[in-house]
Amino acid sequence: MRMDLDDASALARVDAHAVREVLGDFPAQCRQGRAVAVPPPRVKSPRMLVVAAMGGSAASGDLLAAWAAEQVDVPVLVHRGYGLPATATAGTLIVASSYSGDTEEVVSAVTEALRRRLEVVVVTTGGRLAGLAGERGLPRVVLPGGLMPRMALGHLFFPLLGVAAAAGLPAPGAAEVEEALATLDDLAARLGPATPTPDNEAKQIALLLDEALPAIYGGPSSQTAAYRWKTDLAENAKLFALAGALPEVTHNEIEAWGHAGQRSVAALLLRDAGEGPALARRFEALRALIAPAAAAVREVRAPGHGRLARLLGLVYLGQWVSFYAAMRRGVDPWPIPLIDALKRRLAP
Ligand code: PA5
Repeated sequence: MRMDLDDASALARVDAHAVREVLGDFPAQCRQGRAVAVPPPRVKSPRMLVVAAMGGSAASGDLLAAWAAEQVDVPVLVHRGYGLPATATAGTLIVASSYSGDTEEVVSAVTEALRRRLEVVVVTTGGRLAGLAGERGLPRVVLPGGLMPRMALGHLFFPLLGVAAAAGLPAPGAAEVEEALATLDDLAARLGPATPTPDNEAKQIALLLDEALPAIYGGPSSQTAAYRWKTDLAENAKLFALAGALPEVTHNEIEAWGHAGQRSVAALLLRDAGEGPALARRFEALRALIAPAAAAVREVRAPGHGRLARLLGLVYLGQWVSFYAAMRRGVDPWPIPLIDALKRRLAP
């Protein structure tokens, strides 16, 4: 028996760590993240910005890179891995972001940045990264602790905008940020547990995933959200998902739909007002061709007007979808036992 998503007491029984409250507070968390003090980096007008991060912390870098793609004339690169890429040389600003501060890939990126004498800003709650920042006198953004990294996106992301602005790079203006925050306020009301399924987009999408594997496709801007939906579904609902981006998937993955078995895959198409007419035509053609094989095809429109609102709004909707998908499976979205076990195995 799957849970009735409109049953508040059933939600409370499974959601033992009150993730629904953390998600409901996301707009407030973003406002807090925006107000956080950002130490000015010593390098001004960097020739490149590298965000070194993993998992939930790296998502903040993806959002920055997605916002920057059409507005910033220097590369913004998200580095997921050990060390640093060869292209990170003099004039590159490194932002090392790890919510726990103990992620070994990020610690190794900082060690390598120091070896190359690059400017580093650290974003963390504590851990080894905070220790390193203290020892080496690195500028540090201090984050509040107590959350799971993927649920601290507002704390992690907004200081990145502050670091970029302090380094002299373009960043969203006050009006764009205000509109994004207002969009999140509106979504918090529309997607929270108190809004019943017939009016709640996140609950409706979660229901589509009861028996079907989600294939989440975005465009040039919404692909960032598509990937984040996939990782939230994995970590929160313990559910596999595919994520891809148009136009690329129309040159390869589309073929798999011709052989998708037993209507076992549901397509979630993340559409964005900025995608342009060529991409819109491609979404329509993809939809027509895959619909006969799909368990369901659902289009999701990025809410809000400005680029920041559309990016954050889609990601926020995905967080709620993963929460309700977890509830339908009777899964507590908070713990991540396999990630923890792997970190324990690798601990020095
Ligand atoms: O969401 C999570 O808990 C993970 O994806 C972590 O973010 C990831 O393991 C990296 O840890 P941290 O964000 O603390 O650097």
